[in-house]
Amino acid sequence: LTLAEAVRQTAAEVDRALDALLPHPHGFHGRVQEAMRYAVQAGGKRLRPFLVLETAALFGAPRDRAMRVACAIECLHTYSLVHDDLPAMDDDDLRRGRPTTHRQFDEATAILAGDALLTIAFEILADEATHPDGAVRAALVMDLARAGGHEGMIGGQMMDIEAPNHDFGAKEVIELQARKTGALFEFSCQAGARLAQAAPQDFENLRAYARDMGLAFQIADDLIDVIGTVEQAGKAVGKDQEAGKATLVSIYGVEGAKAECARLAESARQAVAGYGPRAERLAGLPAFLLDRAS
Ligand code: IPE
Ligand code: IPE
Ligand code: MG
Ligand code: MG
Ligand code: MG
Repeated sequence: LTLAEAVRQTAAEVDRALDALLPHPHGFHGRVQEAMRYAVQAGGKRLRPFLVLETAALFGAPRDRAMRVACAIECLHTYSLVHDDLPAMDDDDLRRGRPTTHRQFDEATAILAGDALLTIAFEILADEATHPDGAVRAALVMDLARAGGHEGMIGGQMMDIEAPNHDFGAKEVIELQARKTGALFEFSCQAGARLAQAAPQDFENLRAYARDMGLAFQIADDLIDVIGTVEQAGKAVGKDQEAGKATLVSIYGVEGAKAECARLAESARQAVAGYGPRAERLAGLPAFLLDRAS
């Protein structure tokens, strides 16, 4: 199985699990459930679930439990996209190759669907089926709250909005991205260790891996914004420059950013090298993402 095939196959499995976990529209409030499904089922690469499932396998955590955590992070990630696309934020019409949720429904419904996807993530984690030990469930809830909150993804979104008012250099852009996208990747990579109650050193290894792979991912996303097509991206391109947002691509240039991305991919590979062939897919993922963007 090539990495591309493995990612695709896992995504199909995650899609089925999400279908089983998401509510079906019913009653006078059915519209919000319909919008939740619309946003999630538009597809997406399911990279964060892939990371949860791969790291869980690394430590021998049962796959059915890992799949629930994978679905939780994908719900939270999808909420972040639904809100990111709103007129008050990036004001985008296209997401995952389809009209954005507020375009397909309306703004109020998109806000509510995002809110509901955020909260259902915690409902999924807190359920006994996720782990029999309440302390492990509480730790997962805490991890996700921190990753998605004001010091994590939300903090990054705030920095992103502030960016055009500041002259951000590489250091600030790296901080922005570590929060905006890195935090959810870090959660995803450490979730396997959490489920298996792995050793502190394992959490450290996965944090190092996630930091490099998250930044490599974001550089690849920024490269797609500059050199990609709408068809390839499934979303509008050229938005960062238009909004005057500094990215590592605007700072280093396209070739410099590719080189930095390659360096990060190698560093990420090193971080999990100690796990041997079992971590082969994790090790290869950042380089695979750079390939997609080139
Ligand atoms: C897009 O994330 C938003 C960013 C964090 C840059 P993905 O590229 O993982 O989007 P999907 O889930 O595949 O649609
Ligand atoms: C959004 O970053 C990341 C989150 C939703 C947290 P972007 O605004 O760069 O994502 P895209 O390019 O619209 O997917
Ligand atoms: Mg944005
Ligand atoms: Mg956006
Ligand atoms: Mg982007």
